[in-house]
Amino acid sequence: MDNINLMEIDTVMLDDEGNAVVIIDQTKLPGKVELLSLTTARQIWDAIYLLQVRGAPAIGVAAAMGIYILAKNMPRESFAIFYREFTKQKEYLDSARPTAVNLSWALNRMDACVLSHKEESVDEIVEALHREAVAIRDEDVKVCKKIGEYGVTLLKPGEGVLTHCNAGKLATVQFGTATAPIYVAEEKGYHLRVFCDETRPLLQGARLTAFELQESGVDTTLICDNMSAMVMKNGWVDAVFVGCDRVAANGDAANKIGTSVVAAVAKQYGVPMYICAPTSTIDMDTATGDDIVIEERKSDEVAEMWYKERMAPKDVKIFNPAFDVTDHSLIAGIITEYGIATAPYEQSLKEIFEKKNGGK
Ligand code: MRU
Repeated sequence: MDNINLMEIDTVMLDDEGNAVVIIDQTKLPGKVELLSLTTARQIWDAIYLLQVRGAPAIGVAAAMGIYILAKNMPRESFAIFYREFTKQKEYLDSARPTAVNLSWALNRMDACVLSHKEESVDEIVEALHREAVAIRDEDVKVCKKIGEYGVTLLKPGEGVLTHCNAGKLATVQFGTATAPIYVAEEKGYHLRVFCDETRPLLQGARLTAFELQESGVDTTLICDNMSAMVMKNGWVDAVFVGCDRVAANGDAANKIGTSVVAAVAKQYGVPMYICAPTSTIDMDTATGDDIVIEERKSDEVAEMWYKERMAPKDVKIFNPAFDVTDHSLIAGIITEYGIATAPYEQSLKEIFEKKNGGK
C-alpha cells in the first residue's frame, strides 16, 4: 500500500459498506502508509490506545464511527437491551485515553443521538447513529478550515512558525488544527518557514508533522525539542501554533508533553503562542488545568522505543506523562472555528460558545 498518497485520503473513514473504521496506521509512518480496517471493539480500543489513530479530533471521529459500526451488531430485542450494550461499549471505548476530551465528547454525542431516537426502532436508531458519525466527521473538516482562516490572519508572508507534536492532517480528518493556518497561508503564497519539534518520546513531530508538511511542499525544518529556545532567540520564529487535547474554562490548555516548555520559551522571547482548538476540545465543565487528567504512558517509550538497545539504566525510575498543561497566562490566543478568544478566557470562551449556540 506504499502508493497511497497521504494527503489525498482522510485520516479516519468508514469503509464503503459501513462495516469498518478505516484509519491510516500512524505507528508505521513515515516509513509506510498503511491502512487498517477496524471492526471489533477491541481493535478500535487498541487503535486508540496504541496511537494507530491519535490526535484529539481524529480520536473523536474514530470513536463515533466505531460505536456506530458496533451498534449495527448489537442485540435488538428491545430498546433496553440495545441500550445496555451500547452503554457498555461506549464506556469501554471511552476508557482508551483520558486527556483528549474529544473522545468522550464524540461518544456523548452518539449517546444523545440514541436517546433522542429511543421511541423509534433499533434499525432507525442505527441509521441515526450513521448520520451522526458522518456529521461529526464532516464538521471536523469544516471546523479545521475555519481555524485555518482565522489563524492565517495572524501571519504575514515569509514568517517563521514553530509547532509541537502533530496537530496536523493526521490528527484530524483533513487539514489539522495547528497546521490549518499554515496550509491556508501556503495557498495564499506566503512561503512560511516551519520548525517542527520532534516531540519526544513518541516523535509525532518528526514522524508525522515533518512528513505531512514536507509532502505538502511546506518549507519544513525539524528540530529536537531542546532547540526551540535557540531558534526563537535567533529570531526565526514569529508565532507558535499548537493543537490541544482539552482547554479548561479559564484557558489553561493540555497538549502533548513539552508544549508548556515551548510556551515559557516563547514568552521569554516575545513570540506569541496560539492554541488551535475546535470547540469540541474546549471543556467548559473543567474549571482549570489542575482538573485535567493527564495520561501516563509506559516507561519503555522513554527508555527503549526507537533505540537499537535500551538507553537508560535498567530499573531506573521513569516518569512519562503524555501531556502537560500550558497556563493561560502564556497563551496569546485560542483559535476556534468561531473566532480567536483572548484573555480573559473565562469571558471570551463563554462568548465563543454563545456564538456557537446562536446567541450572538
Ligand atoms: O498523544 P497524541 O499523539 O494523541 O497527542 C496529540 C496532541 O497532543 C495534539 O497536539 C492534540 O491532540 C491536538 S490534535 C489536533
